Amino acid sequence: MSAHGTPIPMQSLAAGPLTGTADVPGDKSISHRSLILGALSMGETRISGLLEGQDVLDTAKAMRAFGAEVTDLGGGNWRVQGVGVGGFAEPDNVIDCGNSGTGVRLIMGAMATSPITATFTGDASLNKRPMARVTDPLALFGAQSVGREGGRLPMTIVGAADPVPVRYVVPVPSAQVKSAVLLAGLNAPGQTVVIEKEATRDHTERMLAGFGATITSEDSEEGRVITLTGQPELTGQTIVVPRDPSSAAFPVCAALIVPGSDVLVPNIGLNPTRAGLFETLRDMGADLTYENPREEGGEPVADLRARFSPDLKGIEVPPDRAASMIDEYPILSVVAAYAEGQTVMRGVKELRVKESDRIDAMATGLRANGIEVEDGEDWWIVTGRGHGNVPGGAEVESHLDHRIAMSFLCLGMASTAPVRVDDGGPIATSFPIFEPLMATLGARIERLA
Ligand code: S3P
Repeated sequence: MSAHGTPIPMQSLAAGPLTGTADVPGDKSISHRSLILGALSMGETRISGLLEGQDVLDTAKAMRAFGAEVTDLGGGNWRVQGVGVGGFAEPDNVIDCGNSGTGVRLIMGAMATSPITATFTGDASLNKRPMARVTDPLALFGAQSVGREGGRLPMTIVGAADPVPVRYVVPVPSAQVKSAVLLAGLNAPGQTVVIEKEATRDHTERMLAGFGATITSEDSEEGRVITLTGQPELTGQTIVVPRDPSSAAFPVCAALIVPGSDVLVPNIGLNPTRAGLFETLRDMGADLTYENPREEGGEPVADLRARFSPDLKGIEVPPDRAASMIDEYPILSVVAAYAEGQTVMRGVKELRVKESDRIDAMATGLRANGIEVEDGEDWWIVTGRGHGNVPGGAEVESHLDHRIAMSFLCLGMASTAPVRVDDGGPIATSFPIFEPLMATLGARIERLA
C-alpha cells in the first residue's frame, strides 16, 4: 500500500479484446456498515463477501479499538461480537482511518453520543478532507470536537454524556453525513430526524432496519425525511455483502471502449441510489444489459453484460442523477473520451472533496492524454474523440485516489500510446484484485520499476 509507503508506478497498454467473467469484490459502503452495525449490536454478526480492501480493514481495526471483537474467519467471512448501542469503550490510542472518508465519518457518528473521547487521523488525502460537515451536526447532540484549521483531521471528539436527539437538514448531498447523524442518533433518547434534499445511498437506513431499529423514510416537500427511534437494542445479523457497483464500473467501462470485448460482471447490487452510471452508459448508447435480474437480501441484483460499443455518444448527464453515481464520474469521463461529442456533467461540486479533487485530477490527466476538457466549480465537459482517436502517452498523478488510478489505467486500454499512473498503490483501498482481475480479462497493466 503506497498511501503510507513507496509509490507503485503503473502503465496500461492497449490490449484486447477483454473477455470473460469479472468477479468484483464486495460493496465498500455495505462492508463498512456491516462492521460498524455489528459492533453496535448485541451478539454475533456473521458477514460473508466482505470487501477486504484497506479502507474496510481500517474500520475493522477501529471497531476492535472501541471494544468489539472482530475476527477474520478467512475467505471473506468475518465475525463481529458486538458491544451494543452505547457500549463503545474509549480507545487507548489514535484511530487511523487511512484513506477512508466513509470509515472516519461513520465512526465519528457512532461514538459521538457515548461518554468517551477518541482522536482520529488518516493519510495525506483524508487529512485534507472537510470534517465540519459531520462535526457540526454531532455538536447538536452535545459532542465536542477539536481539529486542525478548517475542520481537518487529526481531530478529537469528546462524546456527549447526555445526548439529545436532533432534527437535521443535511446541507450537502452526502450519505456519509446522513449516516453519521443516524448512527449518533442511535444512542440519543427519542427521535432523531434527518432530512436530505437529494436522495443519497440508503444502505444505513436499510441495514439499521435489518438490525432491529425502528426507522422510517418518507418523501415530503422538504425532501426525504428519515426518522430513527433512539436507544434500540440492535441484534447481530447474518449479512451477505453484494458486489460493488462502483468497482463493477471499471471492467464494464473497459469492455465498452476496448474493441471486440464481451465481459460478464455477475451479482452486482443495483440499488437505485447507486446505479446511475449504468443508466447513463445506456443513454450514451452502450451495449450494456442486465441479465438474470433478481432480489438478494432486500437489494436488487443482476449480472451485468458489457460489450464493445462502437457508437457511444456524449450526453448531458441529468444532474439529479449525480448522487446515484457520484463515485463513477472519473470512469464515466474516460468513456466520454471514447464517445463522439460532448459529455456534460453538472451539479457535481462534491467531486472536489473526495479522496482527491476529482474534477481537477481527471481534467488534468485527460488533457495531458490529448482530450479536451472544460471545467468550473461544479461542472465539467469532456469532448470525446471517438474510438481509435484517443492519443494517450502521458503520465498522470493519482493523488492518493484509487478511482483516479483505475480510471486512467482503463483509459490506456484503448489509447494509441500507453497511459502511465504515478502511483497505483491506492487501488488496494477498494479493489485489491484489480490488476489480476483485469489481466484475466485480457488487459495489459504493468508495474514500472
Ligand atoms: C459513501 C458515500 C459517498 C461516496 C463514498 C461512500 C458511503 O460519499 O462518495 O465513496 O458509503 O456513505 P459522500 O457521503 O461524501 O457523498
